[in-house]
Amino acid sequence: MQTFLVTGAAGFIGSHSVEGLLARDCRVIGVDNLRTGHLENLEIARTSPHFMWVLADAGDEAAMRVLFEQHRFAGVLHLAALVSVPESFREPALNYQLNLAAADSIARLCLEFECRRLVFASSAAVYGADAALPNRESAIPQPQSPYAAAKLAAEVMLLGYAASYGLEAVCLRYFNVYGPRQDPGSPYSGVLSIFTDRLRNGLPVTVYGDGEQTRDFISVRDVARANGEALTQAQVAAGRYNVSTGQGISLNEVLAIYQELFPNTLPINYAVARIGDIRHSRGDPEQLRNLLGFSAQTPFAQGLRELVLGYSEENRA
Ligand SMILES: NC(=O)c1ccc[n+]([C@@H]2O[C@H](COP(=O)([O-])OP(=O)(O)OC[C@H]3O[C@@H](n4cnc5c(N)ncnc54)[C@H](O)[C@@H]3O)[C@@H](O)[C@H]2O)c1
Repeated sequence: MQTFLVTGAAGFIGSHSVEGLLARDCRVIGVDNLRTGHLENLEIARTSPHFMWVLADAGDEAAMRVLFEQHRFAGVLHLAALVSVPESFREPALNYQLNLAAADSIARLCLEFECRRLVFASSAAVYGADAALPNRESAIPQPQSPYAAAKLAAEVMLLGYAASYGLEAVCLRYFNVYGPRQDPGSPYSGVLSIFTDRLRNGLPVTVYGDGEQTRDFISVRDVARANGEALTQAQVAAGRYNVSTGQGISLNEVLAIYQELFPNTLPINYAVARIGDIRHSRGDPEQLRNLLGFSAQTPFAQGLRELVLGYSEENRA
């Protein structure tokens, strides 16, 4: 049985990825400092004898070294990060620590302990607002926030280690991930978790702009599967890969689906578009399909229904 380290395990993507790895008969050590994650997200994982939960900072090299010494990791999924773009503007030094320095530290531990595979959570944010569509990995990235800059810098570091030392660094550029357990508490959280939370409470939702802006929404279940494939497939080529569906969905299309799910009331406010908001975002999924045979399988309308149902189940208590 192979053992994997997952950082950011108590987060939205982390907790689903841990469950996916356990379902593949892997042993998982899940690290999180609970900065934005929640221990309740690991309720299912913690019932497994093959899961071990560790409260620690992924950037604390001494603490992480102990784990690398104790376990012979077959691979690491590094998700722990400062995840809020606005927070990265307010706290650039913290952004540097959490999004770049921690990734570098984890990568060097992988090299030291001969853990060859490192899957890194990058972001579509590296493309910037003016990139040609669909976003292709060959495009020159134009990060427009400290968050995107640190994600891109971390990719460059890891791919430098891949070229220098043979680290199998797989940098996954997630597009807009949605699904159960995405925290609606932050105003900067995923738009679908905010919409779902407000509509369930009968509150109006605000659309900035005309609602015709599009996003490549991908279900967290598909993302967890991509992470599992990237960690466990025998052969991978180090590189940067979009994790996307290839489909752009407008917010007005999203609202039409909500209309079916919440037929009684659907108060919508249209507000002035926010400066700096990206108009369209859509990834080309081909490179990842070539690498892993991966393609997203959850149709958006189904995934959104699951989000609404998952939300109601997880918030019933
Ligand atoms: N959700 C998306 O749409 C999306 C899109 C692109 C990229 N990403 C990336 O995916 C990763 C996971 O994001 P998420 O949406 O699940 O967010 P999340 O906030 O739910 O998960 C991040 C987890 O990392 C933990 N964490 C943060 N810093 C840590 C540290 N130093 N040590 C240990 N744990 C730490 C947090 O407590 C949290 O549990 C992040 O790297 C994020 O940048 C997410």
